[in-house]
Amino acid sequence: MYVFAAQGARLRKLAAEGLDIIRMDIGEPDAPPPAFIIDELDQQSRNPKKHGYAGYGGTPELKQAIADYYQRRFGVALDPVSETLPLLGSKEGLANIALAWLDPGDLAIVPDPGYPTYQMGAKMAGADVYFTPLEARLGWLPDLEAIPAEVAGRARLMWVSYPNNPTGAVAPLSFYRDAVEFCRRHEILLCSDLPYADVTFDGYEAPSVLSVPGAKEVTLEFNSLSKSHHLAGWRVGMAVGNATAVKALLQIKSNVDSGIFRPIQDAATVALNSDPSWMVARNEEYRRRRDLVLEAVRSIGMVAETPQAGLYIWALPPAGYGSLEFADKVLLETGVGFTAGDAYGPSGVGYVRISLGTETAKIEEAMARLTALAL
Ligand SMILES: Cc1ncc(COP(=O)(O)O)c(C=O)c1O
Repeated sequence: MYVFAAQGARLRKLAAEGLDIIRMDIGEPDAPPPAFIIDELDQQSRNPKKHGYAGYGGTPELKQAIADYYQRRFGVALDPVSETLPLLGSKEGLANIALAWLDPGDLAIVPDPGYPTYQMGAKMAGADVYFTPLEARLGWLPDLEAIPAEVAGRARLMWVSYPNNPTGAVAPLSFYRDAVEFCRRHEILLCSDLPYADVTFDGYEAPSVLSVPGAKEVTLEFNSLSKSHHLAGWRVGMAVGNATAVKALLQIKSNVDSGIFRPIQDAATVALNSDPSWMVARNEEYRRRRDLVLEAVRSIGMVAETPQAGLYIWALPPAGYGSLEFADKVLLETGVGFTAGDAYGPSGVGYVRISLGTETAKIEEAMARLTALAL
């Protein structure tokens, strides 16, 4: 079972047994999307002509909106026809690109810790996985020089994702330059996963790897409206960049799914074309939550860096506690759900991930319970 499905089932069981649970383990916005996006879905869904199969490749309007968003937001020029592909949320794209690109016996380079679908996609394709450890001392960036020549030679795909889930780290453009150069040298498809690009704090702006000159030759980037526009349950994302990879992904997808509900594509088009200034207040609220959580966890001896982006605090438990042990203690004694870092790969062991996608009042209550915990 998918690791987070198992965790959710456990928390629901404890809630049914009477534990007052505050979930800080889920990586999704607590707030609904802005009303203008819902209004568009409402209006379009009343059109009797919009309920049939929508076609496989996405509407021309959504593809154009994706290209325009990339131009405006990242200064990246994309051909909407051949270099953009709407997805049913980015997760299916992460898994399907592995099926599209990897043969049994191929190799994928996957960050550890990392979002579980990177490695599961490779495994579903029958490929092997090589983990690049992300460590605090290297700013949670993979050490590309440390990848053995034999691995680089066999690899056909490499994942990077910044702002990072779960570590909260961000990547400088210089890292993206190195990653593009590495992938070009070894003929690897660089897959960048960028769902937290628009959840940023303190003036930080997350770049796209596609802004590196020449990146498109080797790069496919995944993005999503789940976190940026609070559309997690609507399932709408995108793959953009290398046209050969876009085509390969569409070939798999057209055999697996039948496109995104048209009114959702229309609403996503409006969302991407709209003035994003509403995100300023949203991000400010996340920043307040971030600071509130950091103050509380540090006061009980946990160690955490201050993330500039994303929805997560990645923290070491107080001295003497393992990650599973501490997450369990917090859950059973306070009802507050964290995720033990073990879920994100071997290098996640020892950490817990705390999500900021919970109402501020509930986070305040959760932190009050945490700081009262007997350690
Ligand atoms: C790093 C990362 N990639 C991809 C996803 C999938 O997002 P979606 O499928 O909703 O677009 C998530 C969701 O939590 C994520 O954290």
